[in-house]
Amino acid sequence: MFTVTVTETHAETDTIKVLRLVRSDGAALAPYPAGAHIDVTGPTGITRPYSLCGPPEDTGAYTIAVKREENSRGGSQALHDKVEPSTELTIGAPRRLFGLAPQAREHHLVAAGIGITPLLAMAYELHARKAEFRLHYVARSRAEAAFAGLLEKSAFADRVVRHFGAGRQAVAHELTGALAGLPADAHVYACGPESFMAQVRVLAARGLPEEQIHSEPFRAGTSAGDGADNGADDGFEVELDTGEVYTVPPGKSIADVLEENGVPLETSCREGICGTCVLRVVEGEPDHRDHCLSAKEKAAGDQIAACVSRARSPRLVVELW
Ligand code: FES
Repeated sequence: MFTVTVTETHAETDTIKVLRLVRSDGAALAPYPAGAHIDVTGPTGITRPYSLCGPPEDTGAYTIAVKREENSRGGSQALHDKVEPSTELTIGAPRRLFGLAPQAREHHLVAAGIGITPLLAMAYELHARKAEFRLHYVARSRAEAAFAGLLEKSAFADRVVRHFGAGRQAVAHELTGALAGLPADAHVYACGPESFMAQVRVLAARGLPEEQIHSEPFRAGTSAGDGADNGADDGFEVELDTGEVYTVPPGKSIADVLEENGVPLETSCREGICGTCVLRVVEGEPDHRDHCLSAKEKAAGDQIAACVSRARSPRLVVELW
């Protein structure tokens, strides 16, 4: 984690604020692949992941877009209400959980709402590479579509297909047509609300194998329990390979309980995204609620993201790495 200074802010829409960040110590920022995100700790100490949405080759500054979430625990609200030029924030190094497939010969980017952010970075990169791509952008209206003006004036404006103001059914129809008959080596990338990404995955899967369909893991929702597998939030026991046993009650995570008991455990996002807190499972059945382990890793059942995932069995035996 390091400190950055906000050099510019502007409102992209009524609810989306763009921040430009530079390192406070004047050092260069690390380059990042399109689709990467950073963890941002705001003025209230809450850390949230935000996709980097500037041109990836611009390492003079990082750009993020923050949607004000009315039901959030204050992370996005503080970035809207308490951050202005010269405010300092703490951020982590860029991480890539969502990125362009190097082997793809055609890329179809499909965004809804604030989901445009990582796909905008991808569009910049694909244009720079002279790659074949389309960017489909779904929004309730142009006024609610962040970066609509930028896209219209961009050098790749002819690659952008806008689906603004269309109803749900009309959008489904348009995307069905857009994702039909793609070449066998095409890849599809979706970012937006989980229901939207699920719809895109279903449409794309009619012609492409699962491994060629990608979606942004943290757009599915960022709170514990909003992952792929939401079982009942019961308590359970966690046993360390050193023999100590702790009870994890409803409403607390394994990471919370270990920390309360002085057991060292490294965490970062605490939202099941980054993978920092993953532990090895020796016994018991995890109830995976994270977005960092792959479907294969979840099925294997020998790892668990301690910040969000729970247990289906009464006890989990875990090993601290
Ligand atoms: S701390 Fe990031 S996945 Fe748990």
